[in-house]
Amino acid sequence: SIPLVIDTDTAQDDCVALLVGLLDPDAELRAITMVAGNVGFAQQVRNAHLTLAMAGRLGEVPIHLGCRRPLVREWVSAENVHGDGSGGLRLADADDVEVSDEHAVDALIRLAAEAPGELRIVCIGPLTNIATALVKDPDFVRNVGSLWIMGGSNNGRGNITAAAEYNFYVDPEAAKAVFAAGFDITVVPWDPLTLRDAVFSRERLAELATIGTPLARFFTRIVGTTLAFDESVGIPGSTHPDSLTAAVLLHPELVLASAPYAVDVETGSELTRGYSAMSWGVHGLEPNARVIERIDPEAFFAYIGGLLRSEVQPS
Ligand code: BDR
Ligand code: CA
Repeated sequence: SIPLVIDTDTAQDDCVALLVGLLDPDAELRAITMVAGNVGFAQQVRNAHLTLAMAGRLGEVPIHLGCRRPLVREWVSAENVHGDGSGGLRLADADDVEVSDEHAVDALIRLAAEAPGELRIVCIGPLTNIATALVKDPDFVRNVGSLWIMGGSNNGRGNITAAAEYNFYVDPEAAKAVFAAGFDITVVPWDPLTLRDAVFSRERLAELATIGTPLARFFTRIVGTTLAFDESVGIPGSTHPDSLTAAVLLHPELVLASAPYAVDVETGSELTRGYSAMSWGVHGLEPNARVIERIDPEAFFAYIGGLLRSEVQPS
């Protein structure tokens, strides 16, 4: 099985990515590290805790709290998109969440050092924790096996501004530093990949809702808020970039096309803040990442359906 950490700003799709890490038998989820992003920090922690409980894994995978704001900028939430990130679901003891004493950045550094070259980090929020770890520990880049980053657009549309995708927009300095550092990186971009291949239509969501397990009910509930938002801006369904990022790490057969790119992130301009310049071979730049260009949407949908069929008892 594959050792991994999920670094997350836990709203809906992040919760689904956590389910991938918690339920897929090929994954060995060693920790959940939290970074400031989509919704308020305490709410993100509640959402991660709730997801652990739904997967029947409470107390088995530690939650580490990480950076509370971006490196340089003010924090920008996405509560207009995500609501509270859990469709209003709460555990009875929601404010009594057990978390590790170890800061997320230290946990990332330690876990990478304990298994040099092995650890995969699924990065599905702003890259603040990763950038901080690389500044703090000179061996971090060498020790990490690979980063699987949801962020940016492959010269396509943004989702928070015309130019930028949310995760890179919120902490562009962190994203820029991470792409310049020499990690082995795979990127799942917002556009065109997510918007074309990882949107679950209402018909598909209805099909998932018929599965009838507690996990399927949880999924249906949490994706409700983003579905309403997505439809209001003309996206024909609910978007799943974060769970896709974890899924392609565990199941490379989902990927139909990927290519080496030189990726850099705009930090100078306000108009294009967080824009990801993804240069393919023609510009003559040295590649620093592999960008996923196409996946098999049917196989991805079937994979998520399979996870939701798991007969786990919520803990
Ligand atoms: C990213 O931002 C959040 O809304 C999602 O969880 C995803 O990580 C998409 O831009
Ligand atoms: Ca996210």
